[in-house]
Amino acid sequence: MKTVKLLDKEFDLFLSHDEIQTAIQRMASEISKDLVGEDVLFVCILNGSFLVTADLMKEVDLEQPEVTFLRLASYEGTDTTGKVKQLLGLNESIEGRTIVVIEDIVDTGITIAQVKKTILEKNPKNFKIATLLLKPGKFDNSTKIDYVGIEIPDDFIVGYGLDYDGKGRNLRDIYKIKE
Ligand code: IMP
Ligand code: MG
Repeated sequence: MKTVKLLDKEFDLFLSHDEIQTAIQRMASEISKDLVGEDVLFVCILNGSFLVTADLMKEVDLEQPEVTFLRLASYEGTDTTGKVKQLLGLNESIEGRTIVVIEDIVDTGITIAQVKKTILEKNPKNFKIATLLLKPGKFDNSTKIDYVGIEIPDDFIVGYGLDYDGKGRNLRDIYKIKE
């Protein structure tokens, strides 16, 4: 599909499934090389990161890594913009383990900064962040991102886990909003 329509908006094909998988394979080999011998717990940030987490976990070459899920959402209300609340927590023990957070996209960096704070409070041995996509034009640079798949322009995108009002997460490719 070259274009898709979701609700009231149209989107053009931007990154193919193959381009996405190539980026994931590269991230997986970097992670496997860096974290050889470590007790790795992947932390998937829901909802957007479910597909990238599934694909990345299949590509890494590590000794029995585990996965868990953290769900965050923006606060509603006018005076709380930029704050995130935790909807689903971490039950696994974090202390002394190597944590690799998996994000679909880092935009301003507000979400990932909150995730980092939440996890560091639990004293991991090692903490890394992997994101499939990064928008350098908007990123506040306050958090170190260890593994980046593809840097993209500031345009709004959907597909491969990313949504427009809940729609589009199932798409194999990534689409960019039509101007
Ligand atoms: P940040 O806190 O500004 O870095 O935003 C991160 C979150 O915003 C991501 O995990 C996504 O859920 C969402 N997001 C950012 N950019 C896009 C986009 O282009 N399309 C869909 N969701 C996005
Ligand atoms: Mg997300």
